[in-house]
Amino acid sequence: MLPHFSLEQVDEVVNAIRARTSVRPRVSIILGSGLNGLADSIEKPDIIPFGALPYFPVSTVLGHSGRLVIGSLEGQSVFVMQGRIHFYEGYSMAEVTLPVRVMQRLGVEILIVTNAAGGVNPAFVPGDIMLITDNLNLIGMMGQNPLIGPNMDEIGPRFPDMSQAYDRALCDLARGVAHQENLVLREGVYAGLSGPSFESPADLRFLRLIGTDSVGMSTVPEVIVARHGGMRVLGFSGISNKANLDGSTVTTHAEVMEAGKLITPKIEKLIRGVLRQL
Ligand code: HPA
Repeated sequence: MLPHFSLEQVDEVVNAIRARTSVRPRVSIILGSGLNGLADSIEKPDIIPFGALPYFPVSTVLGHSGRLVIGSLEGQSVFVMQGRIHFYEGYSMAEVTLPVRVMQRLGVEILIVTNAAGGVNPAFVPGDIMLITDNLNLIGMMGQNPLIGPNMDEIGPRFPDMSQAYDRALCDLARGVAHQENLVLREGVYAGLSGPSFESPADLRFLRLIGTDSVGMSTVPEVIVARHGGMRVLGFSGISNKANLDGSTVTTHAEVMEAGKLITPKIEKLIRGVLRQL
């Protein structure tokens, strides 16, 4: 059987966090590659390095700080993952999604996920923001679903629905904020792969054919676990590079980090605007 955590182990992490902060967050935000900046604007933060928590995996990727920043943003109490854990780092699906289980036991109701992604939709350009309206769980279709293993009946059902993974009311809020802020907000389907190699041109042509607008190496497992526990989810892809469907250009992590500088202020405006209206 694949490794998994018991509810008691999740609660050990929750107790370790409660010992270090009195904030009771309602909203969680997971920051993607190169998008760490938003956590720096949290007011009166309690900061907990991942390494200080039991069972918590430590992010090994450049551009992921690996700490929890818990405090206030736009009047909401927030729990920010500054740095996420990726499956390609060698962690199990249970480890990748442990932070979401912890959020659920902390009483968090809303999860905002962000990621850096390749733009597979040919209309997208680097620096664009895409509202995620649905996802393709390609990594799950290959047998890596984070809910495989004993079901946590206290949290959710064995066979959770995924028909509205991305909350329609929250999507509408984000559209409204984009309009007010004069931001172009793209929309589409995010495909979640394992990485860490970027896609080949043939991979990318396949992804486009099956309806992919943005592609990345995260997010989908976290969203599945969030929905299992009934959290409402809002997701944004920051388009860091144009997917290279004809093999004419190369994609690098440096490019992804560089585009983060363009993307962060836009995603910050969107998230702040949504938080104000919750
Ligand atoms: N592919 C997969 N993941 C990514 C990409 C990409 O082109 N850009 C940023 N993350």
